[in-house]
Amino acid sequence: MQLVIDSANIDKIKKLIEFLPIDGVTTNPSIIVKEQKPFFPMLEEIRYVIGEEKELFVQVIATNAKDMVEEAKYICKVLGGNVLVKIPVTMEGIKAIKQLKREGIRTLATTIYTPVNAYLAAKAGAEYVAPYVNRIDNLTGNGVKVVTEITEVFSRHNLSCKVLAASFKNVQQIHNVCLAGAHGVTAAPELIEALVEHPSIEENVEKFRKDWFDQYGEESLILNVKK
Ligand code: E4P
Repeated sequence: MQLVIDSANIDKIKKLIEFLPIDGVTTNPSIIVKEQKPFFPMLEEIRYVIGEEKELFVQVIATNAKDMVEEAKYICKVLGGNVLVKIPVTMEGIKAIKQLKREGIRTLATTIYTPVNAYLAAKAGAEYVAPYVNRIDNLTGNGVKVVTEITEVFSRHNLSCKVLAASFKNVQQIHNVCLAGAHGVTAAPELIEALVEHPSIEENVEKFRKDWFDQYGEESLILNVKK
């Protein structure tokens, strides 16, 4: 199951890449704009930080299929490495996904709100769909249920498309989409860090350290062995 950072903040990406098993980075126009930096140099820096192997997802801005396809080709040409183009699931977007599939450009269908959105995108040739869990919840829908139904439709109909669940506001939503069979999650850096947090962990670690120190007077196992 993939763990992807939903951010364009270089410092936060660097930190998470160093410490956690991260598979890639997703961006969208709002996330990019938040950083207030020139667009492509920032994406090139993200590519440099994460390396060529990890997946980098970049969204098109155009709203008609022809321009989406053109932007997608440009994104792939400029960034290189393992790039996927995010395309919203409008009629024009689905047309663009079909054409990009024919041309060998990998896509993620974004702004997925229903299982039938996901079905169409998968059938058109998207490699991933990104259901917006928290945004669905905010519309008094059930984001986790949508993810569950998408994974079920894909598996029943042998669609090879993967579900990269997106838009989270808490760890419980992430836990629930893991159980629902999502192939991956993309979440804000703060939320990814929160996956590690539990008050008992720090407490346990401190007790282990103290027990050891009280007996051996050292903070390190190696120093103790060398004596
Ligand atoms: C990712 O593909 C989406 O663009 C993003 O997760 C949306 O998240 P938000 O609802 O927190 O803005």
